[in-house]
Formats: sequence, C-alpha cells, structure tokens
Amino acid sequence: MLPAADNRYLTRTGRGTPMGALLRRFWVPALLSAELPTPDGPPLRVRLLGEDLVAFRTNDGRVALLAANCPHRGASLFFGRNEDNGIRCVYHGWQFDAAGACTDMPNEPAESNFRHEVRATAYPCVERAGVIWTYLGPAGTAAALPDLEWALLPPGHLVVSKRLQECNYLQAMEGGIDPSHLSFLHSKKEAPPQPLESGGIRFPPYMALDRHPRFETLETPYGVLIAARRRAGDDGYYWRISQFLQPWYTIFPADPGLPLGGHAWVPIDDEHCWTWSFSWQADRPLTAAELADMQSGLGIHAHVDPKTFRALANRDNDYRIDRADQRSGSYSGIRGIGEQDMATQESMGTTYDRSKEHLGVSDAAIIATRRQLLRLARALEQGVAPAAAGDGAAYRVRSAAVVLPRTTPWRAGAAAALIARTPQQTSATTSAGATA
Ligand code: FES
Ligand SMILES: [Fe+2]
Repeated sequence: MLPAADNRYLTRTGRGTPMGALLRRFWVPALLSAELPTPDGPPLRVRLLGEDLVAFRTNDGRVALLAANCPHRGASLFFGRNEDNGIRCVYHGWQFDAAGACTDMPNEPAESNFRHEVRATAYPCVERAGVIWTYLGPAGTAAALPDLEWALLPPGHLVVSKRLQECNYLQAMEGGIDPSHLSFLHSKKEAPPQPLESGGIRFPPYMALDRHPRFETLETPYGVLIAARRRAGDDGYYWRISQFLQPWYTIFPADPGLPLGGHAWVPIDDEHCWTWSFSWQADRPLTAAELADMQSGLGIHAHVDPKTFRALANRDNDYRIDRADQRSGSYSGIRGIGEQDMATQESMGTTYDRSKEHLGVSDAAIIATRRQLLRLARALEQGVAPAAAGDGAAYRVRSAAVVLPRTTPWRAGAAAALIARTPQQTSATTSAGATA
C-alpha cells in the first residue's frame, strides 16, 4: 500500500505540484506530427499536465505551442487565424509568433509600444520520429531529448500510435511495469495455458507455463531495470527484462526477430493520459505482415476514433467484452492488448486509492518505480534536478528476452542484448519558442 499523501504526491501533475515540476523537466511527447500535417493548417487544442494549449504549424513549417488563452482578454487562440508565421486572435486581432512575441496589435494606436510589453506563453517544440515533443520546464532550464531507440529510427522502421486513456498516468504506467499480468490478462484460457499470439505480440510458452516469475529490479541512471525469471526446461531460465525510463516511458522485449515495443504515459490532466504505443525494428524496416499485425487492433495499437483518439472499445461499451470468448477463448474476453490494459486500469477509478492495495512480491517493479519518482520529485523540491533529463544518451537501452543457463547471472548474460542498436544521435528537425 501507499500512504494517501504519497499517492496524491505521485499523481498530481498540475503546474505548482512537486510531481508536475519533476515531469516538466523532461521533454513531453505532445502530438503526432501527422496531427499538424500542413503549414498554416487549422490550430489544434492540446491539453498537457493540466495546461490548456494551442498548437499550430506556421507557414515556414515549424510547430508552435502556446497557452490557449490570448494574453489580451483571454479568448482562445484555437479560434485564431494561422497566418504570417503566427496566430492571430480573432477577437481583436492581436498576433503572436511561435516564440510568443506579440507581432501585431492592430486595435491599439500605431505609435503605441504596448505590444512589446505583452507575450504569450510559448513552449519549444521539436519533431523526431513522427512525434512533436515539447518542453514545459521553466525558462532557463535545459533538457536533452531522450535517445530512445525507437525515436532515432528512420521512417519505415517504426509504428507510432496514441490513444486516450481515462485514468491517471501513473495508474496506466504501472501496467507497463507489471510483467506479472502478462501471463493472465494477455493470455488465452486453455488447459494447459497457452501463450498469446496476436497483433504482432508473441509470448513464448514459458510465460504460460510459469505464471509466478521471480522478479529482480535494479535502479539505473535512466530509471529501473526489471528482470522477470521464469523456468525454461530443467537447466535454464527465461529472463524477460524490461525497463521503466524516467519519467513516463516503458519498453518491453520480444523474441529474436520480432518487433520491440514500448509506451509513453503522458498526463493530459490528473484524470486522463495519452497512452503512446511504439513498435519497431531497429535493424530493418517493418514488413507488410508486421504492419498488418499492428494495424489489426489485436496488439498494443488500439483501434481509435481518428479525431478524439478514444478507443472504439471503451468504458461506455464495457470494452466490448465477450463472455463466451472469456469462457472458451481469451482469458479476459476483451479483444486487443491495448483494450485489455485499458479495461483493467480504467476500472480502478480515475485515481486509485493506493492506501487500499495489497502489494505482493510480484509488484516489485511498481514499488521500485514509485520510490524512484518520489525520491526525484523530493530532490527537485530541494533544488536537485533529475540527472536523466539532461542525459539523452542514458536512454540508449533496449529490452531483452533471453534463455540463460541457471548458473549465469542475468546482468552478465543479457548485457549485450540490453544495448540499443541506434547509437547515433540524430538532430531534432524543428524548433520554435524559447531554446531548451
Ligand atoms: S482577446 Fe485576443 S485580441 Fe483580444
Ligand atoms: Fe498489458
């Protein structure tokens, strides 16, 4: 269990909260680049960490992200005119550029200097891997983009999707660092239990045959390394090693040759988050069959409404649970790994009261991750910034699933397999607003 005060501390992310301050020290995956497809296109409403924002692509192709309310008298810039490398509020015509400078104030006297006294809050944006990232941290602080393996791949190697999740980010993320649930929620209901194969995700037989793995966790410069040990025959262990990467990423392994996967769990506000999903092949482009698997809706990429990114199977229709399938087919009766996760995590309430939970040894990774986040946020309150936020290279890791002799320590046996295959840092392509 987690004391109620710690639960509040970890789950409140608005501006002015300790956890909100910590999360704002890291770059935020904010939008798909495809959501702003063309220069001078319609602005988008964006909500991140409880802040209402407006994004637009200027006519020279940069992405801008401004506080939603016009600094004049607060009308929403969502209704603004995206023109002349800025956004013009339709209420009285004030215009702001991508850095937040007021470039025109047509309803004030021409000789007035007032426009130089007014700024819109603007956040820097960069694009990498089809994702628009932003930095919401305080002016004057800098963060490095994380060199996540998937984020450095060329087009064709990666599928990115996002879906709305109607619960607190931590609750969703704790599913991503909970290897124990894979043998249940994402399994088939058969005797003997069978591994699940769907949507490009394949769990080997060890997962179904040994459903109470032993866990080891290890704190790292970027987060937490999570090793789950299952029996593999008489002499071996199947080690499934995944990572939590500060402040909201998780990645998971695959058998050799299969795409790797991962998520980002980003607060929209304290009751909603974006669940980003990534599938990739570092060494080659994804094949047509792999892409079809990912688009099937059976894996981590849910079928969503293209405008709202809400899953079509959602809490309003009980995630389309099929009780007949639950009796005879899948363990959950819910189609799709993403929807299975969503059903269980959203069913806990928007923010679960963790003072009521009963954690077992299988929850070791959750305990380690909470401790780390608490420690980092408390340190920041004392003026110590999180080191990983400034060290993009710390993120050059990948997950691994390996069978090792029982006598081989997993850290040594899996060391080479845990290094990312994309060592070259690529430069971000676009920036706007203040330098970060
Ligand atoms: S409220 Fe935006 S210009 Fe007046
Ligand atoms: Fe899951």
